[in-house]
Amino acid sequence: MPDTLRLTLAVPDDGTREPLLADLADLGFDAFEEEPDALVAYAPAPRWDGPAREAVGALLRQRGLTAAAFREEVVPDQDWNARWEASLQPIEAGPFVVAPSWTEVPPDAGGATVLRIDPKMAFGTGYHETTRICLRLLADAVPEAGRVLDVGTGTGVLAIAALRLGAASAVGVDVDPWSVTNGRDNAALNGVADAFDVREGSVETVPETGFDLVIANIISSILDPLLPGLLERAPPSASAILSGLLASERDRFVDRLAGEGFDLVAEAAENEWWGGLWRRAEA
Ligand SMILES: C[S@@+](CC[C@H](N)C(=O)[O-])C[C@H]1O[C@@H](n2cnc3c(N)ncnc32)[C@H](O)[C@@H]1O
Repeated sequence: MPDTLRLTLAVPDDGTREPLLADLADLGFDAFEEEPDALVAYAPAPRWDGPAREAVGALLRQRGLTAAAFREEVVPDQDWNARWEASLQPIEAGPFVVAPSWTEVPPDAGGATVLRIDPKMAFGTGYHETTRICLRLLADAVPEAGRVLDVGTGTGVLAIAALRLGAASAVGVDVDPWSVTNGRDNAALNGVADAFDVREGSVETVPETGFDLVIANIISSILDPLLPGLLERAPPSASAILSGLLASERDRFVDRLAGEGFDLVAEAAENEWWGGLWRRAEA
């Protein structure tokens, strides 16, 4: 295995990481870690040649990051992947424990629903606040035997959680092809492959309407234009969970959804992140 380049970027966790991560993936970075004050990206070191280095430099400058804001190092040993895997430990969120398949679930998990989620390249390990916010809100939102739509499904964690709580079926969509593969793999790991339909694309790949619960955990700049398509797939008395939003955006989203006939029925926050659970009024 080639040496691995580890790039540590001092980027705050304020919603700007996700598009940066997508750009870095396009440049050949193939694994990422989120730390409180930094985004860490890995690529095979041989790929870190002149043009790649220049492209990353240009990308960082374009985002206002100076040389002082990032550190590069070559990890010489073969086994960075094992180290990365070892860094992912089970975490609790609401009624769930989210655990990679290679970890032991803590004996004190008690009656928690264990979700086996192997992240590969996709977002949604449970390590991000917004994923945990959605998992907490899901506890009161999953319609028994209902149909769920999860836009920006990532690892599939939220749809899989809904299926494990009793939903009958879920459709997950994501524009990232890695997520589609990863979502399917994770569905199989959790024994819900037959009930989870994962599609590449966005809301336009969903001709169906009449979902009992629609979910999107996506930053507002991406969510804003998707919202009409998402909400029109949720009929009267259906629920909607939105996260990926900053606490400072709460009132704007509460007002906007009220205008569409959705009442806020629960909310959750962690650090600067916020998410809500809405119910659409009866017709
Ligand atoms: C913050 S992650 C959420 C992943 C997972 N649902 C979770 O809660 O952990 C957002 C996901 O939305 C996807 N995404 C970005 N733009 C999208 C779009 N226009 N339509 C559908 N998915 C999109 C990204 O690829 C990413 O997987």
